[in-house]
Amino acid sequence: MRTRRSLLDLDDLAANELNEVFARAAAFERERPEKRLAGVACVNLFFEPSTRTFTSFNLAELRLGGEVVNLAPKDLSYLNKGETIEDTVITLSAMGIGVLVVRHPEEGFPASVAMHFDGHVVNAGDGTHAHPTQALLDLYTLIEQFGSLHSRSVAIVGDVVHSRVARSLLAGLKRLGANVRLVGPEVFVPEHYAESAVAVERDLDRVLPDVDAVLLLRIQRERFSGTPVSDEEYIARYRLDAPRLAKLRDTAIVMHPGPYNRGIELDESVLRFPGWLYTRQVMHGVSVRMAVIDLLVNGSA
Ligand code: NCD
Repeated sequence: MRTRRSLLDLDDLAANELNEVFARAAAFERERPEKRLAGVACVNLFFEPSTRTFTSFNLAELRLGGEVVNLAPKDLSYLNKGETIEDTVITLSAMGIGVLVVRHPEEGFPASVAMHFDGHVVNAGDGTHAHPTQALLDLYTLIEQFGSLHSRSVAIVGDVVHSRVARSLLAGLKRLGANVRLVGPEVFVPEHYAESAVAVERDLDRVLPDVDAVLLLRIQRERFSGTPVSDEEYIARYRLDAPRLAKLRDTAIVMHPGPYNRGIELDESVLRFPGWLYTRQVMHGVSVRMAVIDLLVNGSA
């Protein structure tokens, strides 16, 4: 990480680079850092609605002492005055902006921004492609529970095919030696998704007794049309509820990247389950994003 200019995807990070992020996040949680981004301008450019990720990046930048500017699409001249995104990025570069955090519905948008930008780009989610900082905070939360993830069994349940979170997390879990099972109906977990020898399961009830962790996903309705699976069918087969929680091992944990839909992929009993780690994920999100930005900007210093 420390020699990288940008974080666009998780696929290309080696295990030691992942561990470097986790170590720095842990250090920042033990002790609030000095103003390590003093004089560094950070621009957050979000083309999609976001509560968690947007606030989390803002807090991370502020806690490192950065100068934070938030740009919404309505403020961009490239969208309503005929400028190209390339020219917008050249303009932001010329102002000496150090860090550009980008979320966009199009796959590859942050990577094309990075080609024209002199500073560091962090992908905050691009279409169905990648969401590397979400995967990092999920991995960090898992490691906090289990120590090493080697041979730990993790089920990712739900709308995997439309989920950038699942794509990035799968890459990280495989890198750290976890056993991953993708669980869901064919329309959300196609057989070919697992080109990489990851097990695909249709029957959640069969999987639950065997896993250390369950990561639930939201059905990403904004990314497809029609109703490939009715809510009734999805709830009957995949919603995590009290009878299904009872099938888990005592030490098992349940996570969700948020936003979660009560009544669809989970019910209220999950929110009361002792192994429900959603708020820890959110908490770690800030320190993991601090670590990512600090490593990109300051390296190992
Ligand atoms: C996710 C996203 O936007 O990709 N949320 C997040 O960043 N925490 C998942 C989702 O929208 O379901």
